[in-house]
Amino acid sequence: MAKTQSVRASLDKQPHEVASMFDGVARRYDLTNTVISAGQDRYWRWMTRRAIAPRPGEQILDLAAGTGVSTVELGKSGAWCVAADFSRGMLAAGRFRAVPMVAGDAMALPFADNSFDAVTISFGLRNVADIDLAMREMLRVTKPGGRLVICEFSTPVIPVFKTVYMEYLMKALPRVARAVSSNPDAYVYLAESIRAWPNQRQLGRRAADAGWAGVKWRNLTGGVVALHRGYKLGS
Ligand SMILES: C[S@@+](CC[C@H](N)C(=O)[O-])C[C@H]1O[C@@H](n2cnc3c(N)ncnc32)[C@H](O)[C@@H]1O
Repeated sequence: MAKTQSVRASLDKQPHEVASMFDGVARRYDLTNTVISAGQDRYWRWMTRRAIAPRPGEQILDLAAGTGVSTVELGKSGAWCVAADFSRGMLAAGRFRAVPMVAGDAMALPFADNSFDAVTISFGLRNVADIDLAMREMLRVTKPGGRLVICEFSTPVIPVFKTVYMEYLMKALPRVARAVSSNPDAYVYLAESIRAWPNQRQLGRRAADAGWAGVKWRNLTGGVVALHRGYKLGS
């Protein structure tokens, strides 16, 4: 039987703890995602690509890209897409994917100002210790007129569903993860970090405060996930 690792970050999201937790998750990350989301992850990624609307010839940064599964989806557009992440374990687990990969921290991006036509982060921002700093860094590396799309777990909008969902999350999710993940404790952190995450309006306000213009969001799967969009002023 394959060995499992037990590494779980705390909610203050110390970067070394978060990176080691994802190193431990990496080996079975893609499979676990599909199992615990009942296949919805593919729909969320497809909707994220549609929201970014990458065009051939554009340069897109997929931040906190992990194994590159989100980057591959973006690359279907014909744009040049680069994956960046600070977990070398996650990047290594996605080495078989034909996407350029860069090791880097969302809070100190290893890219020049005004480099990308769009910057996106899927299921990554929630894990970053200082999300306001990360959103300012994303703005810095985006070209004037360029776009931001954040795809992240959020707050369900139907009250009864919200209660059921939070129950499912807190009780069932870590148990399901125990059957498939290479680091099941990370999925206890996942449930806790979703509960502690700002709702749609609060995250939209913080993106605007970080300097993003025209911030809007839309809910997917009844608000289980939200896509926040914005753009960088200038042309
Ligand atoms: C849940 S995974 C998401 C991977 C991928 N984007 C997806 O959609 O499946 C979160 C990723 O965020 C990365 N991450 C967390 N904090 C980070 C930071 N400060 N800088 C870079 N990557 C970070 C983790 O290493 C992990 O690979």
